[in-house]
Amino acid sequence: MSPMRKDTRKAPVKKDADASPKRTVHPISPVRGMRDILPSEQPLWNMVRAKCIEIASAYGFERIDTPMVEETGLFVRGVGKYTDIVEKEMYSFETEGGSKLSLRPEGTASVMRSYISNGMVSLPQPVKLWYMGPMFRHDRPQHGRYRQFYQFGCEVIGEEDAVTDAQLALISYLILKELGLKPTIRINSIGTTETRTNYKNALVSYLRGHRSKLSEEDKKRLLRSPMRILDSKDPAIVEIKAEAPQIVDWLDERSKSHFMRVLEYLDETNVPYQLDPYLVRGLDYYADTVFEAYVEHEDEQGHAQLALGGGGRYDGLSEVLGGRETPGTGFSLGLDRIVAQLRESDIKPEKKQVDIFVAQLGEQGRKKALAVFEELRKAGIVSGEAFAKDSIRAQMEVANRQEAKFAIVIGQKEVLDGTAIIRDMESGTQEIIDVQKVIQEVHKKLGK
Ligand code: HAM
Repeated sequence: MSPMRKDTRKAPVKKDADASPKRTVHPISPVRGMRDILPSEQPLWNMVRAKCIEIASAYGFERIDTPMVEETGLFVRGVGKYTDIVEKEMYSFETEGGSKLSLRPEGTASVMRSYISNGMVSLPQPVKLWYMGPMFRHDRPQHGRYRQFYQFGCEVIGEEDAVTDAQLALISYLILKELGLKPTIRINSIGTTETRTNYKNALVSYLRGHRSKLSEEDKKRLLRSPMRILDSKDPAIVEIKAEAPQIVDWLDERSKSHFMRVLEYLDETNVPYQLDPYLVRGLDYYADTVFEAYVEHEDEQGHAQLALGGGGRYDGLSEVLGGRETPGTGFSLGLDRIVAQLRESDIKPEKKQVDIFVAQLGEQGRKKALAVFEELRKAGIVSGEAFAKDSIRAQMEVANRQEAKFAIVIGQKEVLDGTAIIRDMESGTQEIIDVQKVIQEVHKKLGK
């Protein structure tokens, strides 16, 4: 049950002959790591959603919705078999028909699947898509980490130019900045598959020299996904990392020049960015550019950098999923974390102002008020009402709660006269108007 309302209903009395002991019915809570986003929170969420859509649209992106459930193989192939997401965090199940399905842990693999299965390759390239919706990862819930969380993402498929990478980093930055946050972009290049193979060998031999300091988990990673060790927040790793080989030194000429161009474009945009030679990201589809948008953050555990979004280039993803060789690049933002940051920074959305409250008295008054409300709505005037309440006092309480500037009151007498009373809620002054001219009168009062 929502915490907004107390359940005052009485449990039905069971008139059963067998006097079995009364069973207590426990209220059901949301599943661990998942939660309700209540009406009172929606204005802030709407502000975030609207900013994402506004900026993505301005940059020529179009919306796409993909299913929340996909074949497990899409993520095993796309995100990578040995990633934490696929190995540990997916909600997977088998249907009665034997299909192996998963709740999507992220959006990029699905968007690429859709690009391939819908033949978007025949559209003018690049195809620029945005999406927004819930993702699911069965991770340990903690600050900023949920099992159902929401992402907004932008993907550009069919363009390999470095300016696209820079533009996407810029868009992710702009969304956060225009919401009032102070993000920084952390960026790196992880080159080609060959680069990573060579780099991994160098990294593994370096880390082997420090094996005794590695956790059991990291020792396992040493064999399967050594680059993930660089992501660790373990103080021992942070220390070891300082001397570790850097992937930039393994980049081939093409990757190097691509990365230099990305940075040059970023320099032009004034996006604050930092080169992070150890940024690797947790999804296997990346090649060349990778980036994250983060903010400085204080919590019970002290100071931390919190990733609000991440992205990069994934030129090999299409082929892994059975499509043609197609370049791609994109990012996604974690909406839950953005909302939490806005709250911490005390950034609030503009309050939606109720311009006029429509009050009624008596059955005839109520019927007329219904029609007047509809007229006001169609004219774009933000109106409030409490038609189920009889007393004027109770209705005025609602009007005050909604901070309405004016109220229209329609009673039996007004219906007979073809009039309405318009009341200034602050001064209490009232005026009688012709109900036929209600829109003009309200516009006049509102100064519109
Ligand atoms: P990601 O880094 O896994 O990238 O997720 C992007 C953002 O989603 C994170 O920076 C974080 O803000 C948010 N996020 C991730 N996991 C959770 C969680 N458990 N709870 C709350 N928020 C979370 C991707 O998902 C890639 N698909 C991004 C991308 C798009 N790359 C290219 N295109």
